[in-house]
Amino acid sequence: MAVPFFDIQYLLDERRRGELLRRWQEILVHGRFVNGPEIGELEASLSEFLGVEHVVACSNGSDALVLALRAAGVGPGDEVVVPSFTFFATAGAVSRIGAIPVFADVDLDTFLLSPEALAAKTSAATKAVLPVHLYGRPAGCAELRAVAEEAAGHPVQVIEDAAQAVGAVHPDGPCGALGDTAAFSCFPTKNLPAAGDAGFVTTRDGERAAHLRRLREHGGGRQYYHDEVGYNFRHDSLQAAALLVFLPDLLQWNAAREEGAQHYDQLLAEAALGEQVRPPELVPGHVYHQYVLRCQGRDALRDHLQQAGIGCAIYYPLPLHLQPCFAELGGAPGQLPGAEAAAAEVLALPIYPGVTALQREEVVDRIAGFYRNG
Ligand SMILES: Cc1ncc(COP(=O)(O)O)c(C=O)c1O
Repeated sequence: MAVPFFDIQYLLDERRRGELLRRWQEILVHGRFVNGPEIGELEASLSEFLGVEHVVACSNGSDALVLALRAAGVGPGDEVVVPSFTFFATAGAVSRIGAIPVFADVDLDTFLLSPEALAAKTSAATKAVLPVHLYGRPAGCAELRAVAEEAAGHPVQVIEDAAQAVGAVHPDGPCGALGDTAAFSCFPTKNLPAAGDAGFVTTRDGERAAHLRRLREHGGGRQYYHDEVGYNFRHDSLQAAALLVFLPDLLQWNAAREEGAQHYDQLLAEAALGEQVRPPELVPGHVYHQYVLRCQGRDALRDHLQQAGIGCAIYYPLPLHLQPCFAELGGAPGQLPGAEAAAAEVLALPIYPGVTALQREEVVDRIAGFYRNG
């Protein structure tokens, strides 16, 4: 049985298709494709759903990070500590505003920025730290802030990269309310998908939210008057309408992902693969944007699964301190062993809400077969 890694059709059942078409039809009637009434409605709904006071919808998760950094006062020459093991946009956003990404190691057990590594990379020039709730697992932002401020000797802004963590909850509170500002992505494969590119920023601070809104639209409070140089990072009405259709199902989809993770965990334990396959730790509040194993012989296992029609993926094969575009920052192999080991060992299994129990059994049977016959 083939098992796709991801299939967008789980979103588009008859009811949701109908609602989407009805919502989009309304936009055809009012004609406000940009800055339509759907944007404010979406921001209010997300704010209520997440439990964060202010939501500013924008073009995508990468731009949301740029907005979050700018509104936090980060600018050219400032250092921002980022985990090396994450999607490119985390560090790309720092470079895009002329600031300097400083790469720190991750804890191999959680794949999250490690407090010790953060302390080692924080300096007097550190303006912010950008923890990533990688794969949907909430990072402990309060601890990271305390560590960074102690090492820097001054206040440090905490910007959450929550692109993969919509709906995730840490014991300290919901992702999006743990730091000073947070950036989310609604790329169609994310837990809360749009029907194209979309993202949003959250903050608990009203003044910062107003600043984010100005930055989203060329830095002006009044049309054609500009206090600073901002961007065109507007959200579009068609995407807001799609997100309003999908948001009511997010809790149920996140629950399906968690159930999938628990099932994989049980199947892998029964397969008794020992050290060859290490499943992720299951923690409350995790939303399993990805379900990621650490595996021995990872590339051969990936090839074996793909040949058998089992979807799987490597997030991410090269840590950011080793990316060619950051070569001038002096990264070299061996500097960040956690990130480098993660890049060599990780393999993500199908976890989107449409995966069936039978499909998960097939995936684990194939993994077990690889090690038994290997
Ligand atoms: C950790 C992380 N940060 C940022 C982004 C950027 O989001 P977008 O693709 O919406 O620009 C992503 C998207 O994949 C991500 O996974």
